[in-house]
Amino acid sequence: MRKLSVWRIDKFAKTVGEAALSSTLSGFAVPMNAEVEDFIRNKALQATKLKSSISYLVVDEDLADVLGYFTLLVKPFTIQSKQLSSKNRRLIARFSEENAETGDYTASVYLIAQIGKNYSIQEELQMSGNDLLNLALDKLRAAQDLIGGKLVLVEREADREKLLKFYSDNGFMSWNGRYDKKDQLQYDQMIRVLESVA
Ligand SMILES: CC(C)(COP(=O)(O)OP(=O)(O)OC[C@H]1O[C@@H](n2cnc3c(N)ncnc32)[C@H](O)[C@@H]1OP(=O)(O)O)[C@@H](O)C(=O)NCCC(=O)NCCS
Repeated sequence: MRKLSVWRIDKFAKTVGEAALSSTLSGFAVPMNAEVEDFIRNKALQATKLKSSISYLVVDEDLADVLGYFTLLVKPFTIQSKQLSSKNRRLIARFSEENAETGDYTASVYLIAQIGKNYSIQEELQMSGNDLLNLALDKLRAAQDLIGGKLVLVEREADREKLLKFYSDNGFMSWNGRYDKKDQLQYDQMIRVLESVA
C-alpha cells in the first residue's frame, strides 16, 4: 500500500526545514500551467503563513517527494440574476443573500484556488487528479464541519477543454464566465455542492 500523507505546507516546512522544502518544490513541474507551478514554488508558503490561502502538499512517504498540491480559501461569489436558470437560482438562493435592488446573489464559497499534480514524478507513480481533488474536498468537509458552507468554486481557463471534462466528471457545473483584466484571460467558474458525510 502506498503511504500518502497530506501536509499543510507551513507545518511541512517546520518538519523538514524551509531549505529542504524549497529545494523539493523547485522540482515541482506543471508544464501545462505556469501559474500553478509558480504558485507552489514561490508563493504558497508565504500565503499560508499569512493565512490568505492555505496550501496542502500530498507527500509520498516512500518516494519522499511531493505528488501534488491544492490551495484553499473562502471568498465571496456574486452572480447576476439574469445569468441564472431557474434551477440554479433555487440552488444558489438557499446558500446566499440576494441584493434586493439588483436581484444579484452573493454567496460565500470555498475556492479551490490552485490544484496541480507534479509532472516531474515518473508517470506510473503520479497520483490521479481525482484522488487529489478528493483530498481537497476532504479538507473542505472538515472546514464545513466547523463553520458550515456548502458551495465549492473552481475557476478554469475557458479554453482548456480537458479541464472542463475533469471538473464535470467530478460534479462541477459551469455557472458563469469571468474576464480577468490582469492576466487577460477568460475563466469559466464552475461550482458544486459539498455534501457532508454522515
Ligand atoms: C487538473 C489535474 C489535477 C487533473 O488530473 P488528471 O485528470 O489526473 O490529469 P491528467 O494528467 O491525466 O491530464 C488529463 C488531460 O488533461 C490535459 N490537461 C491537464 N491540465 C491541463 C491544462 N492546464 N491545460 C490543458 N490541458 C490540460 C492533459 O494534457 C491530459 O490530456 P490527454 O488526455 O490528452 O493526455 C491535472 O491535469 C493537473 O495537475 N493539471 C495542471 C494544473 C492545472 O491546470 N490545474 C487546474 C487549474 S484550474
